Amino acid sequence: MASAQNPFSVKGQSGARTARRAAPAAGQLRAAPDKSCSHRAFIFAGMARGTSRIEGLLESADVLATGRAVAQLGAEVSRDEDGRWTVTGAPDWRSPDESLDLGNSGTGVRLLMGAAARFNLTARFTGDESLSSRPMARVLDPLRMMGAVSEAADGGRLPVTLKGHGGLHAIDYTPPVASAQVKSAILLAGLGALGETIVREPHATRDHTETMAPIFGADVRVIREGGALTAIVRGGRSLHAADVRIPGDPSSAAFPAAAALVTGGEVLIEGVMTNPARFGLYQTLREMGADMDIRPAGEAAGEALADIAIRASALKGVDVPPERAPSMIDEYPILSVIAAFAEGTTRMTGLAELRAKESDRLAASAALLQANGVEIELLDDALIVHGKGPGSVTGGGLVKTLHDHRLAMSGLVLGLGAAEPVTVDEVAMIATSYPGFFDDMAALGAVIGA
Ligand code: S3P
Repeated sequence: MASAQNPFSVKGQSGARTARRAAPAAGQLRAAPDKSCSHRAFIFAGMARGTSRIEGLLESADVLATGRAVAQLGAEVSRDEDGRWTVTGAPDWRSPDESLDLGNSGTGVRLLMGAAARFNLTARFTGDESLSSRPMARVLDPLRMMGAVSEAADGGRLPVTLKGHGGLHAIDYTPPVASAQVKSAILLAGLGALGETIVREPHATRDHTETMAPIFGADVRVIREGGALTAIVRGGRSLHAADVRIPGDPSSAAFPAAAALVTGGEVLIEGVMTNPARFGLYQTLREMGADMDIRPAGEAAGEALADIAIRASALKGVDVPPERAPSMIDEYPILSVIAAFAEGTTRMTGLAELRAKESDRLAASAALLQANGVEIELLDDALIVHGKGPGSVTGGGLVKTLHDHRLAMSGLVLGLGAAEPVTVDEVAMIATSYPGFFDDMAALGAVIGA
């Protein structure tokens, strides 16, 4: 949780942890707030005229790094109480005195580059070791086409110095990779461009930017055809303040859901966002035979919510089609763990993008399973897991998390269902996306210790 002294810092657990099999996971919890929507709320509120209130913000290291950067760019950002923040926007962002350090956050750095590009300012963006190894050209190239000037380290990496421009040109762009971060960066820059900026996605990625933008007064339209999405933003509209409540995160909810499945328990997770662009894991779990009730539970920030009850199920292996990848891009590590407890083979294809995440998540997920006695096949852009059925995952391995939060949580969940305890080498990064992970797991009866 954020501290009173410095609202932008998070205290979490650190060091190695071991998860072991205990009673089946059981209980009820509220889904952790969504990371993607939390970043966007800070960014839109930070550019809007007036004072916005954000309720249920995810107080994770990634999101708070974005909040701190927005403050450095000129907004007033303050924490009122748990999850409640007030942001008085600066309709004209200024050059920050110091570098904007986005820590581990790809979403934070890429969206902020887009948002900052439309102002007359110069900003230097930095990040931790993992973020500094990730590609930024995918965002800087289209921003350059719009008129922003940038300088990056070798290979288009951080640190990046970006010189924005008050009079960007609109572009009509089809990103070469399926990435909501790229789409969002262009749309955010397009808010200040002359004319209509168009982003065309052959396979739609998460559309939270498109959904939240109009709440703050932006003119954004979306056209869908089959699985494709075209987003159009008209530049020049000024943004106004708004009050938003953050929906629950389907990517974080995947971990308690998985705990129910691998331990044969029963868990109710409340307030999970069901946006189809984020719900691919749950569709896949259904196909695997998961016993799940999904009941509508209102909406938040224009996103539909549901309460998800999930219980012990006889799971079978399935083929997960490549076109589903954008809707569950962060869920492959935990799905590969669940697949190990299913009967039969799960084939996950079209996963090249996983190699450009917080770690090479494709190789690291494969290594996680292999270290715990699960048979897999690793291809350039695919992972095949040969599930042995419940009760037959050996475990006993040491998982190298490579500073990747989702690998750390996936390794621990595997340990909850495996015959032998599973140790992950470092859990500090879990606070980047799910600072309540250990409390939630303990509430379900999970045994995770030093
Ligand atoms: C995110 C988009 C995804 C995802 C990340 C959050 C976002 O990245 O992996 O955790 O909030 O836009 P890509 O869009 O680069 O695939």
